Amino acid sequence: MDVVYSVGGFRQALEAARAEGRTVGLVPTMGALHAGHESLMIRAAAECDVVAVTIFVNPLQFGDPCDLDHYPRSLADDLERCGALRVGVVFAPSVTEMYPDWPEPPSTLVSVGAEAALWEGASRPGHFEGVATVVAKLFSLAGRCRAYFGEKDFQQLAVVRRLAADLGFPVEVVGCPTVRDLDGLALSSRNSRLSAEERRAATVLWRALGTARVAVASGERRPPAVAALMASVVGGEPLVSLDYGAVVDAQDLSIPAVLAGRRPLRLIIAAEVGPVRLIDNAPVEVALRASRHDPVTGLVSAGSGGR
Ligand code: PAJ
Repeated sequence: MDVVYSVGGFRQALEAARAEGRTVGLVPTMGALHAGHESLMIRAAAECDVVAVTIFVNPLQFGDPCDLDHYPRSLADDLERCGALRVGVVFAPSVTEMYPDWPEPPSTLVSVGAEAALWEGASRPGHFEGVATVVAKLFSLAGRCRAYFGEKDFQQLAVVRRLAADLGFPVEVVGCPTVRDLDGLALSSRNSRLSAEERRAATVLWRALGTARVAVASGERRPPAVAALMASVVGGEPLVSLDYGAVVDAQDLSIPAVLAGRRPLRLIIAAEVGPVRLIDNAPVEVALRASRHDPVTGLVSAGSGGR
């Protein structure tokens, strides 16, 4: 495995791989690697000849300096994890290697429109501009490749897809399913900052998504009612403070007037748990036939109506 720290070294390593006729799978990360990141590397290794992992805690996407300071860093452990999988190249630049004028931000920033305006974009001003700028630079350095991103950060995935399409990068963006702990909590580098009690309370995000999913599958068609249901589940957990919970169009992340089932939908949620902001999401399908929802077991039984 090659570990490169310079922009030039990274570009060269991937150009050399392609010159030998090998395809490249890119996995951008901020390190503190866990099984969620590893699932992207494993998928990339299954579909590409060379896997390139980038490890860079991008200061441009952190609004809160405290969040940046507390972001976990574990390069030695990260390199070990990469070495244990079939990773060919790790790119781990310093901040000034990526942004030579830092702490001045680069003069050129990339901003994405509608996909970045709502939800995380509204709660974290400048966040997606930081993500889009670093991802554009990584795409430009990496060249032709497939790039693997987690559905865990559903809005980020939408922003990155739009970025790749609008700026014409020769990059195929691949979305990968969320990896969870057994109790449903989505794996996140930030989970390590939760106390034992906060860690237990954090499972309420997954429970809220599950409750909303059952309600929609049982015939609930009103987006505000779904949002209220998620809020009431989270409201039962005093250690967790809800930022938003909603059912949205999976492509443009807008709230539909009514859940008609014509376009794919997504449940999204964000909350503060102690010192940490957590996000999660899940697919959801509208019941296309009458069904009964047992409020105690949460089970749905299909009614007699056909499709
Ligand atoms: P980071 O949070 O390190 O995540 C890197 C990649 O791993 C992202 O595509 C993210 O969606 C994915 N990921 C994280 N947790 C996951 C899980 N539980 N299951 C599946 N995939 C998961 O996202 C970033 O870094 C940065 O914003 C980045 C894109 C690298 C730009 O700086």
